[in-house]
Amino acid sequence: MFKKLVIYTAFLLTYMYLNAQEIKWEPVAPGIWKGTVGRPENYNLLTASAAKPYLEGLNKLGDAVFPMPQREVVAQLRDGKTYLRFPLKQKEQLYGFGLNFQTVHQRGKILELHADHFGGKDNGRTHAPTPFYVSSEGYGVFINSARYLKIFAGSAVRRDSENAPVAKDRNTDKTWSSRPYSDAVEVLVPAEGVEFYVFAGPTSLNAVSRYNLFNGGGPLPPRWGLGFTQRVKTLYTAADVEKETKAFEDKGFPLDYIGLEPGWQSKAYPCSFEWDKSRYPDPSGFVADMLKKGIRLNLWTNPYVSPESPIFKAIKPFTGDHTVWLGAVPDLTMPEAQKILFGQLKKSQVDIGISGYKFDEVDGYDHYLWPDVTTFPSGHSAEQLRQTYGLLMQRYSMDMFHEKNQRTYGLVRGSNGGGTSFPYVIYNDYYNHEDFITALINSGFTGVLWTPEARASKTAEEWLRRMQSVVFSPMAMINAWSTGTKPWSYPEVEKQVKDMALLRMQMMPYWYSEFAKYHFQGIPPFRAMNLEAGFASGVEKELKTTNLEENPYVEALGKEVKDQYMAGEYLLVAPMFAGKPTRTVILPKGKWFDFYTGEFAGDGTVITVTPGLDRIPVYVKDGGIVPMGPALMHAPKSGDKIDLEIRYYGHKPGTYQLYDDDGETFNYEKGAFSFRDIKVERTKDGKLKTSISAAQKGKPNTLNKISFKAMTNL
Ligand code: GAL
Repeated sequence: MFKKLVIYTAFLLTYMYLNAQEIKWEPVAPGIWKGTVGRPENYNLLTASAAKPYLEGLNKLGDAVFPMPQREVVAQLRDGKTYLRFPLKQKEQLYGFGLNFQTVHQRGKILELHADHFGGKDNGRTHAPTPFYVSSEGYGVFINSARYLKIFAGSAVRRDSENAPVAKDRNTDKTWSSRPYSDAVEVLVPAEGVEFYVFAGPTSLNAVSRYNLFNGGGPLPPRWGLGFTQRVKTLYTAADVEKETKAFEDKGFPLDYIGLEPGWQSKAYPCSFEWDKSRYPDPSGFVADMLKKGIRLNLWTNPYVSPESPIFKAIKPFTGDHTVWLGAVPDLTMPEAQKILFGQLKKSQVDIGISGYKFDEVDGYDHYLWPDVTTFPSGHSAEQLRQTYGLLMQRYSMDMFHEKNQRTYGLVRGSNGGGTSFPYVIYNDYYNHEDFITALINSGFTGVLWTPEARASKTAEEWLRRMQSVVFSPMAMINAWSTGTKPWSYPEVEKQVKDMALLRMQMMPYWYSEFAKYHFQGIPPFRAMNLEAGFASGVEKELKTTNLEENPYVEALGKEVKDQYMAGEYLLVAPMFAGKPTRTVILPKGKWFDFYTGEFAGDGTVITVTPGLDRIPVYVKDGGIVPMGPALMHAPKSGDKIDLEIRYYGHKPGTYQLYDDDGETFNYEKGAFSFRDIKVERTKDGKLKTSISAAQKGKPNTLNKISFKAMTNL
């Protein structure tokens, strides 16, 4: 019997390796390896995005060993396609595979990664179908392909699996499973070769950071981008916008930028990229006037060119042979098309002071987007353009602002791998509050930012709950394009909404520093509990384990947590949803303190809370430091100074790196920034011992008076 087994195994292994394709491995940065199989295509996610590794950040993370058994990474070429396989251990969990909305755990999934709007199911069709996954074992894998990829994320058992489960008899064995344990992630790439990357840890967060830094690091938004933003009704006029601005001012609600929806254009869907002169008779006067009031403007557009647009004739030869809403689709891989489209945006809008864009409809919906049979003049396929259109819009618009040495922060509905560094936040038309939070969690595995925008609500309670979530997200936004909702539209909760908006402004120094860490260290500002040290181990005892034999990986790391997340270095946010006044919160190992009161909340435990309407539960790690500023109506401008109150929680000595720069330009790329080291500890008699390193000479310094506050009483 044993002999037979050996012969059989030897036969299978020979078969497997005879068909295997050689993988060329090459280290490309500390802890990052590139694998190449066959002849990879020239056009891929990294060439589309022109992502450049931020080597300084990667060097700081340092070297690491290859994080999986390298010989178990296997490739085959057949039928014009590349088959890739990556090994999985039994207890491993997988995260990522694009911007999912309903699930965090991805092991066992079958997905087709395809740029699209989210259609209500996590099946791979999403706004950022990033072919990157992270393992609970502390590594990541990125497939650099601009194709629709089929992913089998540990879903099928191979005949030659080295540790396959035992076949069971369903008739008699209750532990029979329809999804037996599988030991590999398998990927089908529809091309005769591909390159892919493996990112080492040692922690899962390190792997995510390496991926982000490899893509250039996260974007550093201008300070104003982290303030409050209101998108107005689509047919608003300049006078309506000025009136709305005044209402914010009169009511004492903070406001940094206003978004104009399709009605600012003379034609929309397809677009003219020109101001509508009946609604905006004097665009430059209007923009200048708004800027004087401290309000910036963001413009909605999609990229589809109306036959009535002034650029139609010029751009037509550089567009695809199918239309979107009868508008021409620029082949944005061609310099001619880039120049014409972005030249128009620059001349008509950016040069008169527009601060950013919302690029709509670059994700999908098969019924209106160009079909896969479309041909483009560059020779790139419809599929490649579909997968990368959001990247291209972000890249070339970003270049336009970069040339002006002016930071931007905007919205986009489609992105992909390679796009980490672009200053854009993803949004969509879906509107489930719970799923919006799950998307926020998954954004941290995907190298993108996501906003759970508030549009309108059935009840005042729902409105408040949504507003409370959105202030703890990358973009604090109301999108009132169809509803005309204002922050104060639900009078019963106006005060609470205002308090939250003001809290957002107070927290600006924290948010800004956390985004700097995204940029310089690759750490996503909003991320899953699974990336938090102490999370898995701390809660095990609280969670009931089910049949580990049947589903070992699902339970091994605790249950899937999709309704609470980490915001920056120290905060754990647990949103509240309408109709549910009570919820549980999982507090990882280590002491946690209430953000508002500083009181001890728990340590490696599951707590049940009923916080009332005024707040959502937010907890701070022991030793946590949260720098707070004044509740300004607009973010500080370049050169402004603010007073800083440094809040300290718990008992452990704490440190914080406070980031500072001019908040508006790219001068930080030339070194015009500083991180100031904050230290707080308690002396034996309980007093605070505090310090902050001096402002560096010749670097921007936006701080006035600095004070410290112990939030936790002894
Ligand atoms: C949708 C978009 C909305 C809004 C609307 C305007 O496609 O998702 O946020 O901008 O277009 O027509």
